[in-house]
Amino acid sequence: MNIYSSVFLQLLCLIFSCYFCQSLLRQNCQVLEKNYYAQFMDLKFDTCEGFEEFNFSIAVHCDHVENLHLALKDAPLETDWLCLTKYCGMTMETGVFSRFTRLNALYIETRDVELQPGTFSGLPQLTTLWIKADVMSNNITFHKDTFFGLNSLQELKISYIKLSAFNISLLNHLHLLDNLILENNNILYLSEVTASLGIFKNLKKLSVVSNWIRKLRTADCLTSQNPTSYGQFVNFNISHLDLSASQLTITEPKSLCNFPHLERFTADSTGIAIEDLYKSGIKTIKTISLQNAGFDKFQICASASHFKSEELLLMFSSIHKINTFGGSCKNIKKLNLSGNYLDNTGVKQMQKLPDLLELDLSNNNLESLELCNNESAPMLKLVCLNASFNYLLRLQKGQFACLKELKSLSLESNKINHIADFAFDGLDQLQLLNLQHNNIFRIGEFTFSNLFMVRHLNLYENVVKKFHFDAFRNVLLEDIKLTYTFDHDFSWWKNIRRSLRNISVKTNVLHLTSDVLDEFPFLESLQLDSPDIALSCASFAEAKELHLKNTIEFTNIDARWSPFASFTKLEKLYYSVHPQDVSNSSTIINSLKDISSLKFLYLHNIDSIIKYNQININNIFQRLVHLKVLHLKNAGIERLDSKDVFSDLQDLEFLIIENQNMQEVESIVFDSMPNLKYIYFLQTTFPCSCNFNGFLSWLESNTRVSAIGFYNQKCLIEDISMNFRFFLNSNCRSDLDFILFVLSFLCTLLFMCLSLFHESIHWYILYIVYIVKCWLNHRLQHKDKYEYDAFVSYNTNDELWVTEQLLLNLEQKGPPFFKVCIHNRDFEVGRDIVENIMDSIYSSRWTVCIITHNYLQSNWCSLEMRMATYKLLTESKESLILIFLDKISREELQYYHRLTKLLNKKTYLDWPDHENGQQLFWARLRKIIAKSGRNLK
Ligand SMILES: *[C@@H]1O[C@H](CO)[C@@H](O)[C@H](O)[C@H]1NC(C)=O
Ligand SMILES: *[C@@H]1O[C@H](CO)[C@@H](O)[C@H](O)[C@H]1NC(C)=O
Ligand SMILES: *[C@@H]1O[C@H](CO)[C@@H](O)[C@H](O)[C@H]1NC(C)=O
Ligand SMILES: *[C@@H]1O[C@H](CO)[C@@H](O)[C@H](O)[C@H]1NC(C)=O
Ligand SMILES: *[C@@H]1O[C@H](CO)[C@@H](O)[C@H](O)[C@H]1NC(C)=O
Ligand SMILES: *[C@@H]1O[C@H](CO)[C@@H](O)[C@H](O)[C@H]1NC(C)=O
Repeated sequence: MNIYSSVFLQLLCLIFSCYFCQSLLRQNCQVLEKNYYAQFMDLKFDTCEGFEEFNFSIAVHCDHVENLHLALKDAPLETDWLCLTKYCGMTMETGVFSRFTRLNALYIETRDVELQPGTFSGLPQLTTLWIKADVMSNNITFHKDTFFGLNSLQELKISYIKLSAFNISLLNHLHLLDNLILENNNILYLSEVTASLGIFKNLKKLSVVSNWIRKLRTADCLTSQNPTSYGQFVNFNISHLDLSASQLTITEPKSLCNFPHLERFTADSTGIAIEDLYKSGIKTIKTISLQNAGFDKFQICASASHFKSEELLLMFSSIHKINTFGGSCKNIKKLNLSGNYLDNTGVKQMQKLPDLLELDLSNNNLESLELCNNESAPMLKLVCLNASFNYLLRLQKGQFACLKELKSLSLESNKINHIADFAFDGLDQLQLLNLQHNNIFRIGEFTFSNLFMVRHLNLYENVVKKFHFDAFRNVLLEDIKLTYTFDHDFSWWKNIRRSLRNISVKTNVLHLTSDVLDEFPFLESLQLDSPDIALSCASFAEAKELHLKNTIEFTNIDARWSPFASFTKLEKLYYSVHPQDVSNSSTIINSLKDISSLKFLYLHNIDSIIKYNQININNIFQRLVHLKVLHLKNAGIERLDSKDVFSDLQDLEFLIIENQNMQEVESIVFDSMPNLKYIYFLQTTFPCSCNFNGFLSWLESNTRVSAIGFYNQKCLIEDISMNFRFFLNSNCRSDLDFILFVLSFLCTLLFMCLSLFHESIHWYILYIVYIVKCWLNHRLQHKDKYEYDAFVSYNTNDELWVTEQLLLNLEQKGPPFFKVCIHNRDFEVGRDIVENIMDSIYSSRWTVCIITHNYLQSNWCSLEMRMATYKLLTESKESLILIFLDKISREELQYYHRLTKLLNKKTYLDWPDHENGQQLFWARLRKIIAKSGRNLK
């Protein structure tokens, strides 16, 4: 079959989104196995809206599934995480998931669906269930026992299902439920939820978020019949209450009486006023979260002392000042003020917060950080301080002297260009110092002095030009990240090399080759972003991971050795080239085979290297007998057509091909990899060609290897992209398949035609019915007398001419005085209009059609004319007169019925412009009408 016509057919099919196209595609699910993905890269299903955060070992994601049994047929039985997006079946049957006895987390996003009793039965380990309905169509039917059997469920989230359509008492099967999240359920009052809360004995966390609660009413406070030790109010023993994202503007006294003691109260993005909460019935709150709230003068200490709070999370709340008035802040341990408008911190305020352990001041307007500036300032207990993303310029001596307990200090993304000697003095416990993305250009002898405990130092994205050779004396760094420009004196490495475990360096030239650098004994991971790297031989004996970014020259100082000779235990290699680098150095690619310990290999943008150096790809992966994962991203490997390409990869389990135009894939390539489990094509294009038929058949017939995501793989034909499996199935399969395809296509086409042309067919049928009916009527009655001389068919726009000219000339100027039928005067009121038309035509001797542009475009007029034409044909008497009131060209007429043909045979008159002509016109018309003898009743 001609390929273009088949494409045309399929395009048509796609355009009309016919149903059966989709049913040709069987597998809509993808599988992730954590032990492959988590270590090597962060592939994830980002359409599951936060559900990815739940732990899994084998995750399955199915999109657009209609038949759940079919779709889940191939999913591993060990699946413990399942996400169904856009599920479009009508029902979910009893026990539909019960094969997956290890299922731990289940997310269902669906439209109108019926959840049958016991849908979730047979899932003894399910702890988390999220059900989200479509915003637009969310008629989800629950049964009394839909949730039967969920004996381990701890977290249930229900989104976009109206509470009115959903009865909380349905959840009485969930004995262990600990966390109930209701989101977007049109809930107006909290008591709609709390009234049914008694059925949950173990519920600790309740979230009613993005709902319509504006008012927390006294009436929402539930009192119990038999008073308890907590007084007259029911205590649900809820520890976490979340009312975020509602317009909470009114809080009446006692409205939250059922929640006296909270671990955490969250009202982010609500507009609630903390003072109103004082009388709400809540007595203690350990953690208060009021983000996005828009307070200016939040009284931190007053609120904290009222609720005996330990943590205040006040992010993005327009706070200008740390207000410590009105109470004691003694209990506060954590204060998060990220994303506010603070422009200073005061020593005095810090003294009011003596027990504070964590302080987050990131994303404010701080130009200086005054915590200890007063010589006699007392010691603070702070352990974590974050002042990143501010405008700090300089760090002064003694600036942190009162922070003896501090372990983590982040000053990332400020404008720091000067660090005074001994600026970090006093930070005796500091382990992590983050100075990324500042303007630091010099590291002096005393910059980091006395930082005895620092293990992690981040100097990435600075402009360091000069390190003092003793800069790291007494510092036992484990991780260092830094960006610097080439410095001939690299002896500063010598102080830290024996403790380093991770190095991440970005520089223009990196030479780690001198005698003093002969060994980095504990180094595990090396991330190098540099075009020119030279290493010595014995340096990195323990290194397991190496990242090379933008590297062109990669050499060993002893030219006899491969550059990888220093890495005898390397397991992971990432090599990424800048796409603009047209490199003629192929050292790295050609040396891969020397790293026989390699387990993970990632190659990115090496396409130009392969092309310019004419590397034979059959040689690249030789001797990598321990490789388990191979990730090729834009690697220029377009043809997998020989069994030699991967012939040594006996251990390979996972192959990812990303961002690549594949020209050829033969299944023979995979024969040499007995342990292969997954092939993942990501953003890969194939040409639409039957050459891949063998590969597809191999994939479908083999149970060992799964090709993840292949069901929605696209192929390209003349720049048109279409579904690859669909293409192969419909073009490259046997004749029977093809015939079935054509048959079903024709059915679809016929159906489309019917629906598309429904309008015109409707008219046609109506017309035939009436004609038959009238013709019978008139024949049977042997009518040959007429009621009218003429029936005038015209468009309402031409009514003026008809009433003022035509009627005048025919009915009033005589003799003879003709009897004329026009619809708005002579039609019988209340009768069907088509019957009226038929009757008028058949009871008039002549039918006169007043043809104008409007007339031709009107449905009624065209019906009248067709019927008149029909009468003309059946009666073989002359009965039709055409009057052209507008000038209409023959070309234009071609589009209308068989009008042109009629013109050749029948009487027609043109309406003249001038008066003499008009006189003649009327005379002629009268003559024609009178001609055939007047036989009126
Ligand atoms: C995640 O799950 C795996 C296996 O199911 C388990 O071994 C691991 O401890 C879990 N991790 C977390 C953080 O819960
Ligand atoms: C919702 O679905 C049920 C059956 O699933 C049906 O009986 C009911 O009429 C539907 N309601 C609406 C409003 O569509
Ligand atoms: C919920 O179900 C219970 C018992 O099945 C019933 O008493 C109650 O009226 C129902 N509530 C709503 C809002 O339908
Ligand atoms: C409330 O919950 C706590 C645990 O969070 C438990 O120790 C206590 O017994 C519960 N109280 C009641 C009245 O259920
Ligand atoms: C403070 O809040 C910000 C923004 O939500 C968050 O990124 C940060 O981790 C929080 N800080 C602490 C110490 O929890
Ligand atoms: C330092 O703090 C003490 C006690 O808080 C105070 O009395 C003194 O005036 C402060 N000195 C300066 C220079 O601010």
